Amino acid sequence: MHNFTFKNKTEILFGKGQVQEMRSRMPNDKKILFVYGGGSIKKNGIYDDVLKTLEGFDYVEFSGVEPNPTYETLSKAVEIAKTQDIGFILAVGGGSVIDGAKYIAAAAHYDGDGWDILVNGAPVTTALPIGAVLTLPATGSESNGNSVVTKKATSQKRAFGTPVVQPEFAVLDPSYTFSLPTRQISNGVVDAFVHVIEQYLTYSVNAPLQDRFAEGILSTLIEEGPKALANPTDYDTRANVMWSATMALNGLIGQGVPQDWATHMIGHELTALYNLDHAVTLAIVLPPLMYVQQDKKRDKLIQLGERVFGLQMEDKDKLIEETIKQTQNFFEKMGIRTKLSDYELAADEVTKAIDNLKKNGHTALGEHQDITPEIADRILTLAI
Ligand code: NZQ
Ligand code: ZN
Repeated sequence: MHNFTFKNKTEILFGKGQVQEMRSRMPNDKKILFVYGGGSIKKNGIYDDVLKTLEGFDYVEFSGVEPNPTYETLSKAVEIAKTQDIGFILAVGGGSVIDGAKYIAAAAHYDGDGWDILVNGAPVTTALPIGAVLTLPATGSESNGNSVVTKKATSQKRAFGTPVVQPEFAVLDPSYTFSLPTRQISNGVVDAFVHVIEQYLTYSVNAPLQDRFAEGILSTLIEEGPKALANPTDYDTRANVMWSATMALNGLIGQGVPQDWATHMIGHELTALYNLDHAVTLAIVLPPLMYVQQDKKRDKLIQLGERVFGLQMEDKDKLIEETIKQTQNFFEKMGIRTKLSDYELAADEVTKAIDNLKKNGHTALGEHQDITPEIADRILTLAI
């Protein structure tokens, strides 16, 4: 196992009615920026709950953070934060709103154009504190320090990460997810599944506890994901999906082990260019990536097949083939099509995505940094 230091500062407020607990955790001597998305929270009652908890606090609202939040929209909120003496951000939504809040929090304390943080590695040493109310279990953003922002003008989707922007608290009320459209239930489960895979499906460093954690989350998602589609208002199912998604990317399972993230990096280029949902890009990229990288990932592919999919085969090459197939079948079962052609994308679009990977400097991806643009091209070509 590699050395690591691990701290997760986010206080999780899990369960029905926990939103009230925010009152004692938000500052009453500072102005709060209440950030949300396109308005789903006004239809499902979450907005009203939040307003109730905000009674007596000094706050301003900022709405309209879009899925795959853009620099263009978030810059308006940064301006408000800078000019209206904001001291705290309350983010209510999915990963996009929470990621957006992290960018606002960092850019508000940055003397210059916040985009520098995403493309030039400008250090984030201070940021506004953030609280989150999660409405879509998927990204883990509610209890990690990552943020992904898109600049529309240049079709660039870029990430930054620092504990400085990690939420102080996160409300996880499973009943807040009852109103999710089917597409977002599917997206959430698949995104969380792939987060685990990125931290698990590499090579062994003799870290059996991390492996068992990862396998536990994968198995739970495989069991509970389809149940969430079948019975959207089953509280227990939603609770299990929600907690799995948080645990998938709150740092725990990735400590001391190698990590891949090539599926995500290649996927981000597809979203930036063709506006595919984040999870859709992962469902497209992961199966062919497993296939192309199977020699490097051999032991873990076998372990995944045997322990998570319950496969037993003498012929390990066949077992690997079946593991990849089962992974793809799971995505399809969750309602996500896994081929580029399902989204009317073909070879020309692959070429553009590979060009952008190069432009963004992502030329050595994966746990061995051996996924060059040529290999990424092979992966995407297999996905057609
Ligand atoms: O905008 P509103 O009106 O709120 O609607 C949203 C949005 O249209 C809707 N929604 C959310 N909660 C709902 C709901 N609709 C009904 N009922 C509810 N309870 O769902 C739509 C999608 O929301 P979004 O926040 O975009 O989805 P998600 O949570 O999947 O976030 C995706 C973003 O997170 C980034 C992705 O790249 C993408 O930009 N990621 C962030 C990560 C992180 N911070 O660690 C890691 C991930 O790998 C990922 O890259
Ligand atoms: Zn993801």
